[in-house]
Amino acid sequence: MKRTKFVIGNWKMNGLKSSMNIYEGVNKHMLSNKKSSDLNVVICPPFTLINLFSSKKTSKIMIGAQDTHEKESGAYTGSISSQMLSDLGAGYVIIGHSERRQYFGENVKLLADKIIAAQKADLKVIFCIGELKNEIKNRKSVLRKQLKSLPKKLNYKNIIIAYEPVWAIGTGLIPSFDEINSIHLSIRDILKYDLKFSKNVSILYGGSVNPKNASNILSLENVDGALVGGASLNSKDFSNIIDYYT
Ligand code: PGA
Repeated sequence: MKRTKFVIGNWKMNGLKSSMNIYEGVNKHMLSNKKSSDLNVVICPPFTLINLFSSKKTSKIMIGAQDTHEKESGAYTGSISSQMLSDLGAGYVIIGHSERRQYFGENVKLLADKIIAAQKADLKVIFCIGELKNEIKNRKSVLRKQLKSLPKKLNYKNIIIAYEPVWAIGTGLIPSFDEINSIHLSIRDILKYDLKFSKNVSILYGGSVNPKNASNILSLENVDGALVGGASLNSKDFSNIIDYYT
């Protein structure tokens, strides 16, 4: 079985109702592309735009959220549950992004609970892992530890791994293409031998992906797509990245 390819946009805390034009631009580009493709394109806007984007008929883009709460419902003022996200039309959710780990103190136990909650609500989980700059030397053990924090009871079909070196996010720096390829292979080995994952899980690269480096990154044998931050806020740039697969 072939591994599914993804190009996923993470808008972070950016985007107002007027940003519909970015979404429309990407959708129009995809609709005009006659070549069939089994690529999955997902945009993860802020919570406030999920409903607006998912209500769009004739869309080739799927919608995801950038976070979820670990509980199903209850007295958690200000929080949004996975069931609510599903109800709004989201099909995906990012969990474990380094900004959530760093700025919101999200620990491995909380992330595992969020993953369980998301899967209960039928959301596909985009689970982010990656080393800090000072962890590059111990990269493999850092990544193994992060992957081992995944909950034991997991629907492996509904999980996507995004390898995002923290030092590469928003900096314009990336590991060498060879390094990306071999890190992805190590991740696949950890998933297969340590965690007994299916070998078909998609492993995406994220961190400073742009239209210039996308074709080099996406053509790597062990890379199944990209998680794109900054460049996903520009419909031309994001469409150019998608074009690698279509
Ligand atoms: P970047 O962000 O593409 O702007 O580096 C990637 C991410 O944080 O997912």
